[in-house]
This record gives sequence, structure tokens and C-alpha cells, in this order.
Amino acid sequence: MNEIILSTSNICRDFKIGDGSVVSALKNINVEIEKGKLTILRGRSGSGKTTLINILGALDRPTKGSVDFGGRDITKLSDKKRDNIRRMEMAFVFQSVALMSGLTAFENVEFGLRLAKYPYEKRKARVTEVMTDVGLDKRMHHRPTEMSGGEQQRTAIARAIAHEPMIVFADEPTAELDTNTALHIVSLFKRLVAERGMTIIMTTHDPSMIDIADKVYTLEDGEIVEED
Ligand SMILES: Nc1ncnc2c1ncn2[C@@H]1O[C@H](COP(=O)(O)OP(=O)(O)O)[C@@H](O)[C@H]1O
Ligand SMILES: [Mg+2]
Repeated sequence: MNEIILSTSNICRDFKIGDGSVVSALKNINVEIEKGKLTILRGRSGSGKTTLINILGALDRPTKGSVDFGGRDITKLSDKKRDNIRRMEMAFVFQSVALMSGLTAFENVEFGLRLAKYPYEKRKARVTEVMTDVGLDKRMHHRPTEMSGGEQQRTAIARAIAHEPMIVFADEPTAELDTNTALHIVSLFKRLVAERGMTIIMTTHDPSMIDIADKVYTLEDGEIVEED
């Protein structure tokens, strides 16, 4: 039953910096992301979380090693193929919510569906469904400025998941929220995993989040030091 949909094999990521020296941001990382689970990448600032989640989500390529997504080594694909995989099969949620301020929550989510080429005739129903999933059915016609930070992040999550991606990547999605709101967002992720069978990977430096995860990888200085 445990289906691995995304995995890395000994990935390393070096960054060359201005003075000619090299930073090894990731060193021989092996992770296996299970379908239908919530996986957390945890670690202090600078431990390599963003570098790793960007490589998993095909936003960046490793210096060495391979990344298998659904049976393909995505590090070997062209930029165009990677763009396509990202747009159609993946979703991203970031720390700062980037909603369009002139559009309502409903319109923001609908716009995301247009970008993902979701069938036109199904869009309105799908927006309503996904806004209900994130608990915002009563706020659908509000603009971002008329919503709290937590509601804005939930709208961003609705926009990210509306096109029914295989996998959702969330890089510190709770870092700008107060603890209580942050816990609500993580519970929402947990519910989407349990009830909708979604696969979610999120990063956090906050230890209070980790109990809720199905799997936790702890990063330290570019290495995985703990797995549970
Ligand atoms: N584009 C870059 N150029 C040079 N160094 C980088 C770059 N991106 C990240 N790093 C370095 O890699 C390490 C890991 O960074 P990052 O993945 O952003 O950590 P985290 O997300 O856990 O805070 C840090 O030492 C950081 O300075
Ligand atoms: Mg980071």
C-alpha cells in the first residue's frame, strides 16, 4: 500500500558564491515521499529546507544525484517538460501569500484554474468545492484586504490545490502566522491528506508542528540527521 511518488537518490546541491568558494547546501540526501501522507522537512534556518523542497518541486536542480517523480528522473528533463510537470501535477504554497488584491478570493482561485487549463465548464463548481474544503465558503467573495492572514493563506492553499495536483509543496507556510492560526493551517493540511488523499510536503522550523505529520525528516547543516 505504501506508494512512493517522489524520491531522491544521493542529491547534493552546491552553491558557488561571490568569492569563488562553494557552499554545500545539501549533502547526499535520500528521502522518500509517500503518496497520501503529510511529510514535514524540519530544521533550523539555513539547514537546507528551502533548497531541498525547491529541488523536489522541480524549481531547482541538484548538483549531483537524481529525483524520481512518478517513475521519471525529473533532473534529466528539459526546462519545458519540468515547467509542464510543475504547472499540471504540482502545487506550491509559500510563506508570503501572493493573492491578487483586486480580485476576490473566488476570483483568485478561479484564475489559478485558468492557468492550469482546468476545463472551463467545471471551474465555478470546483472553486466553490475547494473554498468549502478550506473552510472559506462564507468568505468567497471577500477581497484579500477584507480577510485575516490565516484566511488569506487558506485562500492561497485553495488556489494551489484547486486543479487537483498530485503533490503539494509548502515552504514555511505558517511562518508569518501566529501560533494558533498556524496550527489551524497544519490541521487543514492534515485533513486534506486524510479526507482527500492529497500528498503534502511542508517545511517548518517550528517544533510544535511536527506531531501532526505522518513522517518527519530533520535537517541539520545540509544533512538528514533524523527520520521518524
Ligand atoms: N542561491 C544561493 N546561493 C548561495 N548560497 C545559498 C543559496 N541558497 C541557499 N544557500 C545556502 O544554503 C544553505 C541552506 O539554505 P536554505 O535551503 O535556504 O535553508 P533553510 O530553508 O533551511 O533556511 C544556507 O547556508 C544558505 O546560505
Ligand atoms: Mg527556507
